Amino acid sequence: MELRLQKLIAGTGLASRRKAEMLISAGRVSVNGKVVTELGTKVDPARDHVKVDGKHLTAAQPFVYLLLNKPKHVMSTLDDPGGRPTVKDFLRGVSVRVFPVGRLDFDSEGLMLLTNNGELAQALLHPRYHVPKTYLIKVKGVLTDEEIRELERGVKLEDGMTGPAQVKKISKAQANSWLEITIREGRKHQVKRMLESVGHPVIRLTRVKMGPLSLGRLGSGEFRFLTDREANALRELVEERVEMVERGEQPSSRPKRPVRREGWARPKKAKVA
Ligand code: URA
Repeated sequence: MELRLQKLIAGTGLASRRKAEMLISAGRVSVNGKVVTELGTKVDPARDHVKVDGKHLTAAQPFVYLLLNKPKHVMSTLDDPGGRPTVKDFLRGVSVRVFPVGRLDFDSEGLMLLTNNGELAQALLHPRYHVPKTYLIKVKGVLTDEEIRELERGVKLEDGMTGPAQVKKISKAQANSWLEITIREGRKHQVKRMLESVGHPVIRLTRVKMGPLSLGRLGSGEFRFLTDREANALRELVEERVEMVERGEQPSSRPKRPVRREGWARPKKAKVA
């Protein structure tokens, strides 16, 4: 089956589609021994010999990306010396060895990315690249606008000030409220400690987004493979941030758009019961 050259290169996990196009335009890709710079060139992976920087493309490792909805009371590691359930127990039928990208607390739930692409995992976790992560949280009590502003500016924790956060009100009842908080760091128990510092302990925490990935309707304990589009978006995000750092620019730790603070909705509108 014939494919566009850039799609074939991106499909191996070597680069995003954008980067694959750059490699082709820069004359770093050859097909059957001839340098190809035309972007739409069609190739048949079963018949054509494609090389990038002189290396056979088939030598590239096929990367696998999974998104798991980690249930509560499951370790986000692959093993637990204490014998507690781990994310590995939920990956039945996955024969490739994949590793979790980052952690969620034992009692936290939601989006976990697992992959065998170590370089991408490291870049996603590196605090320097400020990859946003969004959590839906249920907290004790109802935050005032001033407490929300404090979280947005950054709060003082024992390991230093937190960066700016984005906070969205979801719903409130008398005793508890639901919020969505987006942070660009990944310190241990960070969201819980931030909310504790403004006097509203977290009762429930679900990660719903990480960079371009969303948990969507994936059931608790279920996993799925990322779509081509999602894997490509992840690679692009990482490449963009690595390139920025290489140019000496700092990827922003601030939300892109100004935060719009909306009112509280009624409790029944919370997305997670
Ligand atoms: N912040 C926390 O406090 N816990 C998590 O599991 C993730 C983010």
